[in-house]
Amino acid sequence: MPDLSSADSKDEPATEELEPGGAGGASLGGASFDALGFTREEIEAAALEGRQVAGRLDDPTALRLLQVGEISVIGRLLSASNGTFFCLVDGPSAGRDRALTATCVYKPIRGERPLIDFPDGSLACRELGAYGVSVASGWDIVPPTVMRDGPLGPGMVQLWVEVDPSVDVVELARLDLPELRRIAVLDAVLNNADRKGGHLLPLEGGRIQAIDNGLCFSVEPKLRTILWRWRGARFNEDEVAVLQRLRVALAGGLGAELRELLAPDEVRATAGRIDALLSRGRFPLPDRNRQAIPWPPF
Ligand SMILES: Nc1ncnc2c1ncn2[C@@H]1O[C@H](COP(=O)(O)OP(=O)(O)O)[C@@H](O)[C@H]1O
Ligand SMILES: [Mg+2]
Repeated sequence: MPDLSSADSKDEPATEELEPGGAGGASLGGASFDALGFTREEIEAAALEGRQVAGRLDDPTALRLLQVGEISVIGRLLSASNGTFFCLVDGPSAGRDRALTATCVYKPIRGERPLIDFPDGSLACRELGAYGVSVASGWDIVPPTVMRDGPLGPGMVQLWVEVDPSVDVVELARLDLPELRRIAVLDAVLNNADRKGGHLLPLEGGRIQAIDNGLCFSVEPKLRTILWRWRGARFNEDEVAVLQRLRVALAGGLGAELRELLAPDEVRATAGRIDALLSRGRFPLPDRNRQAIPWPPF
């Protein structure tokens, strides 16, 4: 279940000025049942029981709902390092006359904690860029993510995915699973400086998604991850094919998308990292002169 405080809690400087303002306004019980998503009643009942709830939406439906739906802040995520909010998003479902509701995460740019090694207010764009790379990879690693205005100003909004509570993430992160290898490949491309265990979300059925991808795309090498198991190992055919596909995408549509979100040299550095990974044909090795594991690791 999400560890929440009320939406207007003010216990951290990053969110001192954050007030839910016009949060929500969606009438309770306004949404009717839809087989693709949860109704507001279902979500609220589950949340009251302390269960984690999520939309069961296909990606195009989720993206549209996240982009145009009405966001209401339910609470602030206590485990988060930024001003990060657990929300409901209500909206129409594509091609139907019925309403849909899903749970989502909303990270307003003004809630971002300043960092010394990333420009202020840039994390939401980096999260969106990571989603774009995940989509282009075809690996479906990052949950549907959009950038939009919200009750606390512009920010990133991401579909809340439901984690399989029976999976022990500490155990999981030690396993030699193709899903984890793919995340490790994607992180090498993204130059992810913060791949913690808690950012790996095991879903029912064995899929693993990866969240909190704000600390990506630096031009400096910063790979910090708990997924070093395959360090120096040769990429398999599928991994090479995906790296090649990403390199082509970066020269086209993905490159254009990233240039809207990142500095030009950050997009060039991403292409450079893929070229280096392809020419070496192997997973990267930790650099002795840099911290290689995020803190805390979980
Ligand atoms: N899309 C999501 N689906 C399910 N849980 C999420 C999602 N995004 C965040 N969470 C949960 O919320 C916590 C805080 O989110 P996170 O992205 O780590 O925020 P921050 O950038 O502030 O650290 C995560 O550790 C995870 O438990
Ligand atoms: Mg986090």
